[in-house]
Amino acid sequence: MKIAFIGGGNMATALIGGLFASDDTAHEIQVADPEPGVRQRLERKWQISCFSRATDAINGMNVIVLAVKPQVLPAVMQETKSLVRPEQLVISMVAGIPVHQIMSQLDGSPAIVRTMPNTPALIGLGITGMYAHESCSGEQREMAQQLMQAAGETVWLEQEGLLNVVTAMSGSGPAYFYYLIETMRKAGTRLGLPAEVAAKLALQTAYGAGALAAQSDLDVVELRRGVTTKGGTTEAAFEQLEAGHFEGLVDSAIAAATQRGQELADTGVPA
Ligand SMILES: NC(=O)c1ccc[n+]([C@@H]2O[C@H](COP(=O)([O-])OP(=O)(O)OC[C@H]3O[C@@H](n4cnc5c(N)ncnc54)[C@H](OP(=O)(O)O)[C@@H]3O)[C@@H](O)[C@H]2O)c1
Repeated sequence: MKIAFIGGGNMATALIGGLFASDDTAHEIQVADPEPGVRQRLERKWQISCFSRATDAINGMNVIVLAVKPQVLPAVMQETKSLVRPEQLVISMVAGIPVHQIMSQLDGSPAIVRTMPNTPALIGLGITGMYAHESCSGEQREMAQQLMQAAGETVWLEQEGLLNVVTAMSGSGPAYFYYLIETMRKAGTRLGLPAEVAAKLALQTAYGAGALAAQSDLDVVELRRGVTTKGGTTEAAFEQLEAGHFEGLVDSAIAAATQRGQELADTGVPA
């Protein structure tokens, strides 16, 4: 694949690192980023060609990845609109910008895949929600999936609107887990543990539980039941979580994030 990244920040770096880590030397990668320090870092690390202007990076590439912040996308589109060719695949990672908005700003009517990655992509453990516009061929969907898998797992959505739910689940999701870790370590400290011990217990428990759930053949409901003995400590904790309507709280938090994503997309404001 010949891939041009427009924007060489966190997400682009995560994907480029994943592509190189997969030992797939078949890729030719070029990056456009206005920041000289960013270009030097990428050139030094992977010996890839970097340019200050997007127009210089996209020529002859078969995939163009939009990896800039939403507020600079209009300027990028303006700069590149007449240069993007119909045979090129555009993959957008730009949060909250609908496909029709990107299409309306490009002259060449290329195929477009819109994606919503998350920050664990930075260590190859991300999950990306993906939506392919009807203009995409099966081969282009395959290319987009192969590229995003460099940063972790992928899921396809058949309706673009469902990307708002993905944003609320996995895009914002790392923050929910960080909050639980933060809250657990505060509770442990209040109950007498040294702060660093409480922090280690909370973090390693989250890490271990996530890894076990990912590797186990058992569903999380069964894993939870396996830890919960009748009349035991876990049951005592769950009585409190249920009394505080934990399930309802999580449900309304994710519904609120989904609704906010939709509102921001409707007003053209980045999520
Ligand atoms: N991080 C996440 O969790 C996450 C999750 C889902 C989606 N996303 C989306 O992914 C996109 C990229 O996020 P990120 O975290 O990688 O952002 P980032 O680290 O800020 O990277 C964006 C890069 O694009 C550069 N840039 C600015 N204007 C440019 C132009 N005209 N041409 C080429 N490059 C330009 C920026 O340079 P300057 O710094 O000099 O402006 C920066 O280096 C965003 O749209 C974000 O919404 C991120």
